[in-house]
Amino acid sequence: MNREDFEILNQEEKLIYFDNSATTLKPNQVVESIVDYYTKYTANAHRGDYDNSLKVDMAYEEVREKVQKLIHNKKAKEIIFTSGATASLNMVVFGFMKYQLKEGDEVLITKAEHASNILPWVTLAKEIGIIIRYIPLENHIVTIENVKNAITPNTKVISLAQVTNVLGDERPIEEIGKLCKENEIYFVVDGSQSVPHIPVDVERLGIDFLAFSAHKMLGPTGVGVLYGKEELLERLEPTSLGGGMNATFDSEGGIEYKSLPSRLEAGTPNIAGVIGLGRAIDYLLEVGIEKIHKHELELKKYATQQLEQIPNIILYNKDMPNGMIAFNIDGVFSQDTAVYLNHYHICVRAGNHCAKILKEDLQVKNTCRISFYLYNTKEEIDELVRVLKNSEEIFKVVL
Ligand code: ALA
Repeated sequence: MNREDFEILNQEEKLIYFDNSATTLKPNQVVESIVDYYTKYTANAHRGDYDNSLKVDMAYEEVREKVQKLIHNKKAKEIIFTSGATASLNMVVFGFMKYQLKEGDEVLITKAEHASNILPWVTLAKEIGIIIRYIPLENHIVTIENVKNAITPNTKVISLAQVTNVLGDERPIEEIGKLCKENEIYFVVDGSQSVPHIPVDVERLGIDFLAFSAHKMLGPTGVGVLYGKEELLERLEPTSLGGGMNATFDSEGGIEYKSLPSRLEAGTPNIAGVIGLGRAIDYLLEVGIEKIHKHELELKKYATQQLEQIPNIILYNKDMPNGMIAFNIDGVFSQDTAVYLNHYHICVRAGNHCAKILKEDLQVKNTCRISFYLYNTKEEIDELVRVLKNSEEIFKVVL
């Protein structure tokens, strides 16, 4: 759907883009909103008293309300703009958890998490002695029983992707949110692969912190969101200090921070990026997230049925209801398959997808990943299947 809005899909040389979990294409409307800012009303935000600067302030601040419409949180000041989900998660770990946790406190994660939801915790463990524990996966998924069994009196944090980035399994976030509330556990959710694809309501789901990136949801790169409950963000220490976030400072070393959200947005923000994110949210809400998800599910069902006909294909997540397919051609290195597909202008991602310890659960180090979005079509899948059918051809092209 909406293919006409994506200039990149309407070039002379056809492109089949199946790498939407890495980043999505950008509709012309998003690109135009960014160009408008750069060509019609460039100014800094929160610093000027002239018309264009005030216009920028309004355009920038309006985006917090758009994010609210998307994730259904209560207050605009609970939305912090960051450079992406990675920065958001790092802020939670090094600006909040570092000061709230102590040696021996336990953080529950899984082996299927993306690096950005593992490495900050590992580093904090080295710094202050927290303990990282992995919730065991059942057939690669998180079950509520396993979460319950993993909780101990020392569990202080559960930090999970809502939807994982390799297999695309959706976690029982609402039930885990309830468990967290009952057990006074902070609940951190990486929404990078969920917010672009499924309706998310942070209040209903009981999420304390939610991180996501604009570029995986039709927006620009280099911008993302950290949502946090107001009372938690009030206790989050700025991990970046400078202009825009301080109310005053003096030569004696006294610093007074501004109130939320400015306190957590030091320096000139990514104004164009935030404006582009706002336009992307408008676009997604106009199309409808549920409609997009339904389309992705239909594409996955169609693709799975076709791909299963290929004798030497291994599908790792065919029964998971999402728009992702992790696969390998038996005996072919995943990157070779990706290079082969590139020969036909088909873009997929190959490798470990930054989830480098998932291999301990999946028993395979690298996979090819197809990930769909609203503009993908069944015809594109037909083309993918056609070129994948001849795996001998793969060796001819890549070797
Ligand atoms: N995290 C992104 C992915 O899964 C880049 O591909």
